[in-house]
Amino acid sequence: MKVSIIGAGNVGATCAEYIALNRIASEVVILDIKDNYAEGKALDLMQTATLNKFNTRITGSTADYTKTANSSVVVITSGIPRKPGMTREELIGINAGIVKNVTENVLKYSPEAIIIVVSNPMDTMTYLALKESKLPKQRIIGMGGILDSARFKCYLSLALNAPASDVQGTVIGGHGDTTMIPLTRLATYTGSPVSEFLSTDALKKVAADTMVGGATLTGMLGTSAWYAPGAAVAALVDSIVNDQKKLFPCCVFLDGEYGQKDICLGVPVVIGRNGWEKIVDLKLTDDEQALFNKSADAVRNMNAVLNDLKFA
Ligand code: NAI
Ligand code: 2OP
Repeated sequence: MKVSIIGAGNVGATCAEYIALNRIASEVVILDIKDNYAEGKALDLMQTATLNKFNTRITGSTADYTKTANSSVVVITSGIPRKPGMTREELIGINAGIVKNVTENVLKYSPEAIIIVVSNPMDTMTYLALKESKLPKQRIIGMGGILDSARFKCYLSLALNAPASDVQGTVIGGHGDTTMIPLTRLATYTGSPVSEFLSTDALKKVAADTMVGGATLTGMLGTSAWYAPGAAVAALVDSIVNDQKKLFPCCVFLDGEYGQKDICLGVPVVIGRNGWEKIVDLKLTDDEQALFNKSADAVRNMNAVLNDLKFA
């Protein structure tokens, strides 16, 4: 299976590394517009092959989309990342132009590809990619909820002083500091509700830390995070290329599900060879549904900026 990653920056290159380390695909192409940058990242990664015992062939390309031809999955990580103090929303003008152009180029050479959108503001960029490409909705997937859920489980495990692998938790809604919804009610520790082990205040803190998880790291690193984002994308790619049917919260087009229409937003979906195959209805409480509706309103406002900028 061939996977192409557009954008050889922090998230793109890390994603390529995890795909190789976890033997997810036989071929990975990384493409960037910076001269020789993707080629350099690919060569560096290939020099870890014997050390890390993988056989994935990783190659780089400077803006030559013919190298990406016939990819099964294409990941879009091209764009500028957040700088300290910057919101994902502020990225919209620059990244919309990049995502539109990249989507067109990708589909010229890989018309059957499943497209994963990572560039921020991710919910709006996913909507843009869907509208611009006119692809069947199952083939456009935004990655945000897998990362936010990984952060949620990390903070829960730290609060519980337990291994993260014993914790389950899901974050739905938008991939934004105020739009994501950590579903504390449904989070479990070895099968029991986390509320049996943690106080209401402790759980509130976990949810709050999760929501600013990305911003906290941006403040510490001076740019946005890449290890967990790269790993989250690789897990999504794995479920597609190996048809694993994993249930992941992903940003997909809603047509009445969760009470929303004409919007891409994070909900739990089954991910397999054909992209997202089914939306799972978690039966939200009234309070959770109200938060979801509020999140949809915020994302819809951001999508409206696309119209102002004459996109979509
Ligand atoms: P980065 O700056 O390290 O890498 C971006 C790369 O894209 C650069 O190498 C740049 O040259 C390249 N690029 C720019 N325009 C391009 C074009 N037209 N074609 C091909 N390549 C192009 O940024 P990083 O940290 O890798 O983040 C990438 C994007 O992913 C940002 O928008 C960031 O906000 C977003 N992000 C989203 C996450 C999510 O959960 N959805 C998590 C982390 C980052
Ligand atoms: C993150 O959540 C900024 O979307 C990026 O790390």
